[in-house]
Amino acid sequence: MKALILQENPDEKLAIADVPTPTPQAGEVLVKVHCAALNHRDQWCRVNKYPNIRYPSILGSDACGTVAQVGEGVNNLWVGKRVLLNPNVGWGDNLAYPDYNYTILGMPTNGTLAEYVCLPAHRAVPVPDHLTDEEAAAIPLAGLTAYRAVFTKGEVKEGDNVLVTGIGGGVAQFTMLFAKAKGAKVFVTSGDDAKLERIKALGADFGVNYKSEGWEKALQKQVPLGFNAIIDGSGGEAFGSLAKMLTLGGNMVVYGTTAGTPSPLNLPRLFFAQASIKGSTMGNDQEFMEMVQFIAQHQIKPIVSSVRPFDEVISAFDEMDAGKQFGKLVITL
Ligand SMILES: NC(=O)c1ccc[n+]([C@@H]2O[C@H](COP(=O)([O-])OP(=O)(O)OC[C@H]3O[C@@H](n4cnc5c(N)ncnc54)[C@H](OP(=O)(O)O)[C@@H]3O)[C@@H](O)[C@H]2O)c1
Repeated sequence: MKALILQENPDEKLAIADVPTPTPQAGEVLVKVHCAALNHRDQWCRVNKYPNIRYPSILGSDACGTVAQVGEGVNNLWVGKRVLLNPNVGWGDNLAYPDYNYTILGMPTNGTLAEYVCLPAHRAVPVPDHLTDEEAAAIPLAGLTAYRAVFTKGEVKEGDNVLVTGIGGGVAQFTMLFAKAKGAKVFVTSGDDAKLERIKALGADFGVNYKSEGWEKALQKQVPLGFNAIIDGSGGEAFGSLAKMLTLGGNMVVYGTTAGTPSPLNLPRLFFAQASIKGSTMGNDQEFMEMVQFIAQHQIKPIVSSVRPFDEVISAFDEMDAGKQFGKLVITL
C-alpha cells in the first residue's frame, strides 16, 4: 500500500513509499482510508520538534474510511461500515488524565496517511450521516482536543463569553463551533484579517487581529467584565494580557504553544479573580464518543480548508507550516 513515511533524512523527513498492508490482529479492524487530515503535530514531527520521534513511522492521526477486514473476536458486521477513528492509543481508565504510556495514532504507532490502517475495533466509530468523508476525516484529533478544552476544562455553558485565539487553527475552529452550539458568545483572534471576516460569516460574534495595535483594548471593550473561558493554543507574548481578561472564576485553557514561550503573568490579578489556568491535552475515549454525538446532535460541519490527492500531501504540510490554511487540510487516498 502507499503510505507517508516519516524517515530519518536530514533534507526531507517525509516520503511517499510502498509498504506492506497490515493484517488486523485479534480485537482489531483493518480500515481502508478514504480521507485523512493533517494536524500541527504532523508538521512538528517533520521538523523534529515532537518528543520521542520514532523512525520510520507512518504519520496521520485523523481518518474516515470503511472497515475492510476484522481480526479474531471482532463481529463481522463491522465490515463495510463507514467509520472515523479515535486517535487515542492507550488513554486507559482514568478520565482525568491518560496512562503513562499514552501515545497518539500516527507516530509511534502507524497512522492514517496510508491506504490502510489497523487499530482496536472499539476506536472505530460510525460516522454521523450528515457528514461527507472529507468532513468526517477532519474531526478526530482537533475535535477531541477542542471538546475537552471547551467542556471538561473550560466548563463553557450557554450564555458564556468565550475567547478563542488563533482562529485559523484546526482546534480553534472546532472550539468555536462547539461553544456556539452550546449557546455561548464567541470572540476570536487571528493574525489575518481575511480569516477574521470568514469566521464571522460562520458565526463568530467578534474578531480582532492580534497583530494590530490595541487588540487587547478592543477585546476588553467588548467584554468589560472579562471572559468566562479563554481557549488558547498559542502561548507567546499575548499570554499575559489574555490571562488578565478572565472574569471572576474564569477558566483559561491552554492546549498548545504555537507562538512560543508565554509572557509573564500578573499573578495577583489571577488569584484575586479566583481564576484558573488549566492545561489540556487530547481527551479520553468517553469524551471522543460524546464529541461525535454532540456533532451529530447539533449537525455540526467541520471547516475544511482544502482537499488534495495523496500525491500532493507534502504540499499540505508546507501550507500548514506557513499558516495559510483556514480549516483542516484533507487528503484523499
Ligand atoms: N494538547 C493537545 O492535545 C493538542 C492537540 C492539537 C494541537 N495541539 C497544539 O495546538 C496548536 C494548534 O494546533 P492545530 O493543529 O490547531 O494547528 P494549526 O491548524 O496549524 O493552527 C495553528 C494556528 O495558530 C495560530 N497562531 C499562530 N501564531 C499565533 C499567535 N502569535 N497568536 C495566536 N495564534 C497564533 C494561527 O492562527 P491564525 O492564522 O488565525 O493567526 C494558526 O492558524 C499546535 O501548537 C499544536 O501542536 C495540541
